[in-house]
This record gives sequence, structure tokens and C-alpha cells, in this order.
Amino acid sequence: MKTVDMILSVVAASLVCTLPSVAQNKKNGEKVFNEYCSTCHQKDGKGLANVYPPLAKSDYIAKTDKETLLRQIIFGLNGKIKVNGKEYNGVMAPLPAKYTDADISDVATYALNMFGNSKGKVSVADVKAAKKKGKLK
Ligand code: HEC
Repeated sequence: MKTVDMILSVVAASLVCTLPSVAQNKKNGEKVFNEYCSTCHQKDGKGLANVYPPLAKSDYIAKTDKETLLRQIIFGLNGKIKVNGKEYNGVMAPLPAKYTDADISDVATYALNMFGNSKGKVSVADVKAAKKKGKLK
């Protein structure tokens, strides 16, 4: 095999390895969102009446730092919050333990960057750091 061909096949192989994994993350984020988060926040992220706040274009997401949001998603959230001018006083349960750190990074990245939000990627390292800090008081 010529050197050029070898280089090309290495490049091709690494493309095959990396591209689907990026797509896979988004696909998995969407899957976890649709099987779990959407039961309350709805598939379009618009929430439900006065009970479940919207994630779509949420000013709460916009003004809250990523680590705080992540700890709320992992450990749950309750008490009064205001989202897009409306007050909520509900309970978001902790995330079921069956979800892996990779699932959490995928679903958090999905929820915080879809529906008009743009908080940036949530990595597995971010998830581990948030878990270490624990539940918010
Ligand atoms: C059982 C219903 C339920 C599920 C499932 C749920 N949430 Fe929530 N979520 C809530 C409620 C209720 C609140 C508001 C809590 C309060 O009033 O203090 C909330 C608040 C939030 C907030 C902050 C407020 C806002 O609207 O911007 C974010 C972000 C959020 N949830 C993301 C998620 C993500 C991501 C998932 C899936 C991993 C998820 N939630 C699953 C019920 C749920």
C-alpha cells in the first residue's frame, strides 16, 4: 500500500469513528429527553400550564449558570422559581439512577441547547463535578 493510501485509510477510519459518536450524543440526548424530561416539560419544551415550567426560551436557563442547572437536573429542584414571568412552585424529582453520566451529559446538552437555548456543551467531566458538589440548598 502506498503511504498516501495508508494515510487516507487512517483518516477515513477515524472519520467513521468520530462522526457517528457526535451524532450519537445528540440522538441519545433526544432519546433520554423524550423518554423522561418530556413527560413534564413536553416534547417541544414548552412546559405544561402552571405546573411544569417551559425550557423553551427559558429566561431562567439563560440567567442560571450551567453547573447550577446541572445539579438541579441531577438532584432535583423545588420551591418558588420564576420562568418567563410566571411563578412556579413545584417539585422536580431527582434523575433516576439508571441514567449514566454520559446519558446525563447528552440530555443536559440537548435540553440546554434546544428550544432556543444556548448554554453550550455539558461534558461528562461537568456531570462528575456537579455530582461531587451534590444537591443544591
Ligand atoms: C416529574 C416532572 C419533571 C421531570 C420528569 C423533569 N422536570 Fe424539570 N422541572 C420540573 C418542575 C416542576 C420544575 C420547577 C421546580 C420548581 O418549581 O421549583 C422543573 C424545573 C426545571 C428547570 C429550571 C426551570 C426552567 O423551566 O427553566 C430545568 C432547566 C429543568 N427542569 C430541566 C429538566 C430536564 C433536562 C429534565 C430531564 C432530564 C427534567 N427537567 C425532567 C418537573 C420535571
